[in-house]
Amino acid sequence: MRILGIGDNILSGAAVIEDGHVIAAVNEERLARKKMVMGFPRQSIRMVLELAHLQPHQIDYVAVASHRGHYLDQYVEFDAGTFGVDRGFIKSTFMSMGSAVSFLHGQLPFLEPLYYGLRTPIYAHRREAIRKVLQKEFDLTCPVQFIDHHFAHACSAFYSSGYDDALVVTMDASGDGSSSHVYRVRNGIWECLHRVPSFDSLASYYAYVTHLCGFKAGKHEGKITGLAAYGHARYRKTLEQFIGYENGTVVNRGKVFYSSALKTLRRALPEDFSKQDLAATIQDTSESVATSYISYWRERATMANVAVAGGLFANVKINQRIHEIPGVESVFIHPAMSDEGLPVGAALALTYQRSRHPAQLPRQCFAHVYLGPEYNETDIERLLAQAEVPFVHCDQVEERIAQLLSNGHVVARFAGRMEYGPRALGNRSILYRPDDPSVNDWLNKNLKRTEFMPFAPSTLVEDADAYYRGLDGARDAARYMTITFDCTTKMRQQCPGVVHVDNTARPQLVSAQDNPGYYRILQAFKRRTGMSSIINTSFNIHEEPIVCSPEDAIRAFKIGHLDYLALGSFIAENPAHPRRSLHSVTDMVHTAELGSRTHGEAIDCALHDRGIS
Ligand SMILES: [Fe+2]
Repeated sequence: MRILGIGDNILSGAAVIEDGHVIAAVNEERLARKKMVMGFPRQSIRMVLELAHLQPHQIDYVAVASHRGHYLDQYVEFDAGTFGVDRGFIKSTFMSMGSAVSFLHGQLPFLEPLYYGLRTPIYAHRREAIRKVLQKEFDLTCPVQFIDHHFAHACSAFYSSGYDDALVVTMDASGDGSSSHVYRVRNGIWECLHRVPSFDSLASYYAYVTHLCGFKAGKHEGKITGLAAYGHARYRKTLEQFIGYENGTVVNRGKVFYSSALKTLRRALPEDFSKQDLAATIQDTSESVATSYISYWRERATMANVAVAGGLFANVKINQRIHEIPGVESVFIHPAMSDEGLPVGAALALTYQRSRHPAQLPRQCFAHVYLGPEYNETDIERLLAQAEVPFVHCDQVEERIAQLLSNGHVVARFAGRMEYGPRALGNRSILYRPDDPSVNDWLNKNLKRTEFMPFAPSTLVEDADAYYRGLDGARDAARYMTITFDCTTKMRQQCPGVVHVDNTARPQLVSAQDNPGYYRILQAFKRRTGMSSIINTSFNIHEEPIVCSPEDAIRAFKIGHLDYLALGSFIAENPAHPRRSLHSVTDMVHTAELGSRTHGEAIDCALHDRGIS
């Protein structure tokens, strides 16, 4: 059974699943070259059909994630910072009305059904419009099924986890009227144990704090997670009046949402509140609420394995806490945990719903996440020649990359199929050696990024136990950079560039099975330096999506002031070479001495630059 999965709103995209295995998956932002663009994913649909070598008549079903939503025919720039104010008149009106009367939630229980009921024609229009576009523009005449948003998240988590049985938890800001679902999956059969309404959304409160700290809600929550390590959870009592855990569920105690939540929360905080401390508070509160909630349901469901998906689990620190819950033997986070994973999730959900033998469905829908487009060497060579950058062909390109890295150069690597999900995992990555603690400052500056969490390491899987504590039960999650671990002393000393101030790192454990070429680079780098890790940050420039094509890579290479570009088996050199590379051990030691202070100062500067210090 071949299913085309579609997500058509935030982080839209498409995927092709055949008998429970993902053949191809890509998100529209990468092809449209607009970060987190919203809108019907025409380019993604064409791309995944091409990658799967399928004609429209060979698709048996189309699975579209979410029952509720607006149809967005054209691209709409993502900007949740104003919580819907810029999302068109009708939606803005509904959201403002709902927000204004939100304090009545609970007293007038008919309000919520009324709110969604009034929007029914909008949802019906979307379903009709999608069916029409699929038929007219893609010649897809097969049945089109719409899948519950959270069930799609849940299926993405379980069917990629490898678990036979598991507790499956989804948590996000909102989808189809819910902010969380809890399922028990035993012998292939799903049982829904609990739902939390959108109104009681923990992830929404994280978004409100992101906004109050001067960043874009729904987009920059990762910055808050990084910033939290520099603060103290001083406003815990205040935040607990707004959101908390009670008797197996999440409760919006403040009874406010969207703009009313922003106003009320801002009023409840001191005039001169500290951004670091507010970040620490929401992180602390979120860890506490999420772990109490999951712990309760894990115990009730008597499950040792926990699989999760939904935007809240983009939070690598919350995921570490889930791993530490007593009784949780193993945790798995779907690599595309936010709505970018919905096309895969919707197709997997429909596979389950159509299956006569659900217990026999594959539990690992992919062997790795390199599920996007790839480009041939002839095209790459032609494009490099056109770009007028000096380049050479290398028979042993991985060895050459390792040599450049060991000599202190920054290398952008573009190879093979693009990654599925938000993380660059070696094929669209910027690489650097991990022993330079000042790298977070100068490389982020070159890339025009503001980050409070250090770069992430890629580590040889066979050496991982020497560098990270508590890997057991989360080794699969660590293949995708979705969870933090406490670092060993050896890691702190050897790789200060990738260890956060709270002594954690969020590694990608690299094996020859997952990515042979990248694994060879790590092996060669270890032979030269004795280090089993390298820095891996996504290959993109400020506020642009990760590069997809060779053209994107060459453009980002030129703008990003990077030293070398490894494009397939070619190496291009940046003739400008703006940065003096660190060659000598003396330089390294000197920089290491300055490192932590420099990064701490950079945090203050970054906040100051944004007018939020
Ligand atoms: Fe979602």
